[in-house]
Amino acid sequence: MTINDHLLISCCMAEDLLIAKGTKEEQYESLLPQIKGLLDGEQDIVANLANVAAALKEQFNWLWVGFYLVKNDELVLGPFQGPVACTRIKKGKGVCGTSWAKAETLIVPDVEKFPGHIACTSLSKSEIVVPIIRNNKVLGVLDVDSIELNHYDETDKKFLEQIVELLNF
Ligand code: SME
Repeated sequence: MTINDHLLISCCMAEDLLIAKGTKEEQYESLLPQIKGLLDGEQDIVANLANVAAALKEQFNWLWVGFYLVKNDELVLGPFQGPVACTRIKKGKGVCGTSWAKAETLIVPDVEKFPGHIACTSLSKSEIVVPIIRNNKVLGVLDVDSIELNHYDETDKKFLEQIVELLNF
């Protein structure tokens, strides 16, 4: 059974994601078409953000995976997987607010060394935040946290940026 066959069956029955083993790159390569399949044909952005957060959490088992969305000039917590988190972040604050202000992906190898980092959970040791940009405007961010130091790198940046590009904002 190919990944697409699997998706045809699984998407409509809300069943299992095919979890790949291997290098980080191989895991993303397996996940990407499955995320495309999950997003295909669904217009509701909350449903899609929820499934992307769940798919990333299932594949990588990171501590926290989720979205913050720009609303009235603040980031407001959106769909996520993981421990409860702070609900509002101002522009320029924390890693998320800085990624928004700079409109760029931030890789933070050690959150304790990031000035102003917002600790939603003390278990988080490293983090990557990817802005969602449409028409030169940041509409939100994808935030991912790990219990391990130095967990995210250019491979995560490359694939997570591709994943946020797929979202139907
Ligand atoms: N650490 C983030 C806050 C969000 S949580 O990690 C879920 C920050 O500094 O912006």
